Amino acid sequence: MDSVTPKPEAAIADQEPTRAVQTWDLKKVYRTGFWLNQKVESLKGCTLSVYEGETFGLLGPNGAGKTTLLKILLGIVRASSGRAVLLGKPISDRAVKQRIGYLPENPYLYDFLTAWEFLQFTAGLFQIPPATQKQRIPELIDTVGIDSKTAKKKQLRQYSKGMLQRIGMAQALINDPELVFLDEPMSGLDPIGRYQIRQIILALKEQGKTIFFNSHVLGDVEQICDRVAILAQGDIICSGSLDELLGSKDIYQVVGRGGNSEQLRQWVNNLDFSDNRWFGQLKSGTNLETFLAALKQMNAEVLELKLARVSLEEFFLQQLRKQGIETSQ
Ligand SMILES: Nc1ncnc2c1ncn2[C@@H]1O[C@H](COP(=O)(O)OP(=O)(O)O)[C@@H](O)[C@H]1O
Ligand SMILES: [Mg+2]
Repeated sequence: MDSVTPKPEAAIADQEPTRAVQTWDLKKVYRTGFWLNQKVESLKGCTLSVYEGETFGLLGPNGAGKTTLLKILLGIVRASSGRAVLLGKPISDRAVKQRIGYLPENPYLYDFLTAWEFLQFTAGLFQIPPATQKQRIPELIDTVGIDSKTAKKKQLRQYSKGMLQRIGMAQALINDPELVFLDEPMSGLDPIGRYQIRQIILALKEQGKTIFFNSHVLGDVEQICDRVAILAQGDIICSGSLDELLGSKDIYQVVGRGGNSEQLRQWVNNLDFSDNRWFGQLKSGTNLETFLAALKQMNAEVLELKLARVSLEEFFLQQLRKQGIETSQ
C-alpha cells in the first residue's frame, strides 16, 4: 500500500462534522390580544448548530421559547426573521419533511384506534407502501417496548401515559427519519417511564439518528445528550458539550473562604461567592500542593475539595442566576 496515502480515519477526523440543524439569528414575535396589538418576543436571535448523529438537548425553563424554536424548524410557526437549515436544506423545503420525525409536547392520539391502527394511519400520511408498513410497524412496536398483541387489540384510551408517550415515539419514527425532534419527551412520566424513553433515545442514537429534544428534566438530559444549549427568555445563554460546560470528569470542585477574588480567579473557574464562602472549579491541570500553598499565601483556606464535576442541574441554575432569572421556588 502507498505509505503516503493518509488513512481514511485520519481524513474523517479532519473533517468538520456535518450539521443536521443550523440556525442563524432566529427571532419570533407573537402578536396577541384582540387587536393583535400586543407583542410577545419569544425568540430574540437564536443561533445554534446540531451535528449529524448527535443527541442534542435544548434546555430552558417554561416559557423560554423551546417549543417555538422547534416549531419554527418544523415549519409549523414562521420565524419573524433569521434563517435555518435542516439536513442541508432551507426549512421551507417540503421534501426535507420526509426525512424528519416529530413528537409534539402534547401529542393528540386517537382514543378509539389501537396502537397498530394509529401507526397505520400515520404511515398512510407519509404514503408508506403497505409492504413497508407491514415490516416497519412491528419493528417500531418492538423498539418502543409494546407487546404486539396488545398493540393490535387495545384502544389508545386504555393506555397509561407512559405507554402513550412510547406510541407517540413510534409515530415520530414511522418514516424512518434521519433527524428526530422530541418536545419534552420525558415530562409527566414516572421514573420508569422516563427510563424507558431514555433507552429508546439511546437505541436511536445507536442507529445513527440525530436527535434534537427539548427538556427541563435535567437528570435525563445529562445521561443521554452529547451537547446541550440553554435557552432563557428567548436567548441562547450557552451551548456546548457536557464536558465543555460542566468541566471534564477529572475536575475538582472547591469551596473555601478568605483570600481575594482576583488572585483566586487565577486558580478557580466560575468563581462565585455566598455566605462568606467562595466556590468554583479548580482549573484543569492544577497541582494541588501548589494551589494549597498559594491559598496559604493569600490567607485563604479550603473547606471542601472533591473530585466531581458540577451537575447539569447546578450548572443550569447558575447560568439562570447569572442572567438575573429567579430560580427559587
Ligand atoms: N401562539 C402563541 N401566541 C402568543 N404567544 C405565544 C404563542 N406560543 C408561545 N407563546 C409565548 O412565547 C413564549 C415561549 O413559549 P414556548 O415556546 O412555548 O416556551 P417553552 O416551550 O420553552 O415553554 C411564552 O411566553 C409563551 O407564552
Ligand atoms: Mg414547550
